[in-house]
Amino acid sequence: MAAELNPIDKAKFVAAKRATEYVQDGMKLGLGTGSTAAWMVRCLAERIREEGLRVTGVPTSTRTAELARSLGVPIASLDDAKWLDLTIDGADEFDPNLALIKGGGAALLQEKIVATASDQMIVIADAAKEVSQLGAFPLPVEVIPFGWQTTKALIEETLVGLDVMNRDCSLRMNGAKPLITDEANYIIDLHLKRIGNPRQVAMVLNQIPGVVENGLFIDICDIVVIGHGDGRVTVRDINEGTEADDFIEFAPTDNIFADME
Ligand code: A5P
Repeated sequence: MAAELNPIDKAKFVAAKRATEYVQDGMKLGLGTGSTAAWMVRCLAERIREEGLRVTGVPTSTRTAELARSLGVPIASLDDAKWLDLTIDGADEFDPNLALIKGGGAALLQEKIVATASDQMIVIADAAKEVSQLGAFPLPVEVIPFGWQTTKALIEETLVGLDVMNRDCSLRMNGAKPLITDEANYIIDLHLKRIGNPRQVAMVLNQIPGVVENGLFIDICDIVVIGHGDGRVTVRDINEGTEADDFIEFAPTDNIFADME
């Protein structure tokens, strides 16, 4: 199985593996959602099996909860865990200030609540997620289903006054029906192409009735671990102002692939 991984998956794997080195015995952890975060859950499960590491994970989606359960990673609700030591999650884009776009997997609401309830957030990503300015990836906005077309129109109107390149918005679909999030809401994707002032966009969007939350994560992420297909990882710490390269031996055990087809 390991030999079949493409360079992007290898990059995601090494980023996830390096990030799980931050996990210490007894920690309460936010478990992100998406393909990169899934590698992190597998690496965590391996440390639990091999080192007897004791952790409590708070999943950010039903998908992650199912994966954690299937791999024997103990989980709890955020209300039970209350405050977390660390959240490790993927991102769709990150900029030089470690501002993020998240929600490509439609889990942005739980992801933002969990990351905000953590002492530290580490983002794991392949190098393609790094951008000089956010916005090429469509910005997901979670809205309640009631009056969603009105909410979409209000979002479009609001964007007129903001420093963005494009203002097309679309309802995210799941086949012929609107995609429904874990919190029973809809997602509207904002195809902005370039976001000049992410902080302003995040604040303004959340003032619109019907908007539950937007996918801009600002001043939440502390560290990004960037994986490369050849096993290199770059660890960038925004608080320390440091950047260091590392190398992760790409030798995943069969256990790592236990849940995969
Ligand atoms: C889930 O809603 C997202 O925020 C993901 O974390 C993000 O889309 C990154 O996903 P991948 O790791 O699959 O690229």
